[in-house]
Amino acid sequence: MDPTLTIELMNEHNLASVFEIEQESFKDPWSLQSFRSELELNRMAIYLVARLDGRVVGYIGSWLVLDEGHITTLAVESDYRRCGIGGCLVRTLIKRVIPHGARRMTLEVRPSNRGARKFYSNLGFEVHGRRKSYYSDEDALIMTLHDLQLPEKNWAEIVKKNYEQGKIEQAEPVEQKGEGPDEGSTGFDPGN
Ligand SMILES: CC(C)(COP(=O)(O)OP(=O)(O)OC[C@H]1O[C@@H](n2cnc3c(N)ncnc32)[C@H](O)[C@@H]1OP(=O)(O)O)[C@@H](O)C(=O)NCCC(=O)NCCS
Repeated sequence: MDPTLTIELMNEHNLASVFEIEQESFKDPWSLQSFRSELELNRMAIYLVARLDGRVVGYIGSWLVLDEGHITTLAVESDYRRCGIGGCLVRTLIKRVIPHGARRMTLEVRPSNRGARKFYSNLGFEVHGRRKSYYSDEDALIMTLHDLQLPEKNWAEIVKKNYEQGKIEQAEPVEQKGEGPDEGSTGFDPGN
């Protein structure tokens, strides 16, 4: 039987797995407490996990601030990269923030992280700025995906096709405390 991928809201039971992926993915990982406070205290946050046959293999987080969704963290377990899971997480997140009025998505990425830059470019993100000394050892590039609300950027349709073609299922939504939500992902750590 084909493996089943589900995308669902992150909860405290996912944190141990998320933290393991975080630690193998980033030089400057978030602490477990950072993830916990995002889930418990940040009402503008949306955090999602990707589960393959029930096992957490990736996650994404973002904040929704006015008309902007800002990706705060994104990682996929190393053995499962280049299978479409990261793309599925981003598209699902976009689908969730559009109804809340998001017009664009932004994120910070290390200039040296060529794989992630290519990944985001393929999704339509463009570099539109640089934050000096954002990371302890590097500037950050700011990447933006514009015009989420335009009908020709029919994200809902794109996600639907992704599910149909990629045998991806979206789990039943679970109780969500806030509306809204990348590399400690981006150098930013909500717990510090
Ligand atoms: C960036 C990341 C989340 C991408 O997740 P993923 O599940 O591997 O991405 P996908 O399989 O959806 O990739 C889709 C496309 O993006 C591009 N891409 C993804 N990773 C790439 C890489 N390392 N190098 C070049 N292109 C890449 C490819 O075009 C890929 O399609 P293909 O495999 O058919 O060629 C994953 O590599 C990761 O966890 N990296 C470590 C953490 C990180 O850097 N996070 C981003 C912080 S800003």
